[in-house]
Amino acid sequence: DTKYEYLIVGVKGEKQNVGLIQLNRPRAFNSLCSPLIAELCQAVEKFEMDDSIGAIVLTGSERVFAAGADIKEMQHREFPNVYKNDFLGSWDKLAKCRKPTIAAVNGYALGGGCEVAMMCDIIYAGEKASFGQPEINLGTIPGAGGTQRLVRAIGKSKAMELVLTGDKMSAAEAEKAGLVSKVFPVDQLVNESIKLAEKISSHSRVASMMCKDAVNTSFEVGLTEGLKFEKRLFHSTFATADRKEGMTAFLEKRPPKYTD
Ligand code: CAA
Repeated sequence: DTKYEYLIVGVKGEKQNVGLIQLNRPRAFNSLCSPLIAELCQAVEKFEMDDSIGAIVLTGSERVFAAGADIKEMQHREFPNVYKNDFLGSWDKLAKCRKPTIAAVNGYALGGGCEVAMMCDIIYAGEKASFGQPEINLGTIPGAGGTQRLVRAIGKSKAMELVLTGDKMSAAEAEKAGLVSKVFPVDQLVNESIKLAEKISSHSRVASMMCKDAVNTSFEVGLTEGLKFEKRLFHSTFATADRKEGMTAFLEKRPPKYTD
């Protein structure tokens, strides 16, 4: 089994079908140094390839989800180096994961922490969570999606305000704005997120991956193209055993048994 320095990784759920990844760099407020991101990409890829896993939960500690990219690591870097190495480029792996992902955010999700949460498909938050893009306070700007995904999640005015001021948004505000889908007491958040992941895992794998693919396509293409893509994927479910099983089970009034 892989040993991680900055992560705690395990399999959860009654049916052992949920991958749980916990960011674990407590001395640096879970700041996202390059080796941590490399481990995160590796852990996500392993769950992605594991047929028994239907959904992935990403969390931090009760105090902090992640306080952003590692400021110590960035302090002395120069333009040619970050440009040539495409600094932060590897973070995309998480956004490209094809299985459903849930961010369970307790405490701070700032800068890169907020951006990593937004790379997940669903965000659940603990009551004391806070979200923000404080890069402006460091003389820089968000570099892993903060100016793009936040706008799509909460609209221009709120996103612009957060990015231009560096102010934090509470869990309650984030839920109202649509960044977060539900808020839970701090000590129940991870369990509730695992329950959600178990529910997602109980459905047809192929169908849930297609749902994710289709929803994410809505961010990339115009409505006509998006509707066409959705329709073609829908048609393609008629080539799966799960589609036949799902409809047959409904009509026979019994629970479905998915195999694809
Ligand atoms: N990078 C490196 N170290 C960090 C860090 C970060 N992003 N955030 C916190 N730390 C470290 C602090 O330096 C401190 O270390 P020492 O104990 O060695 O001094 C330790 O974590 C605890 O931090 P604080 O003493 O500041 O704790 P606090 O409770 O007073 O405040 C906080 C907590 C509000 C999260 C505050 O630490 C903070 O504002 N952190 C920076 C947040 C930030 O600016 N994030 C954006 C980074 S840039 C980025 O992410 C770019 C991108 O788009 C990807």
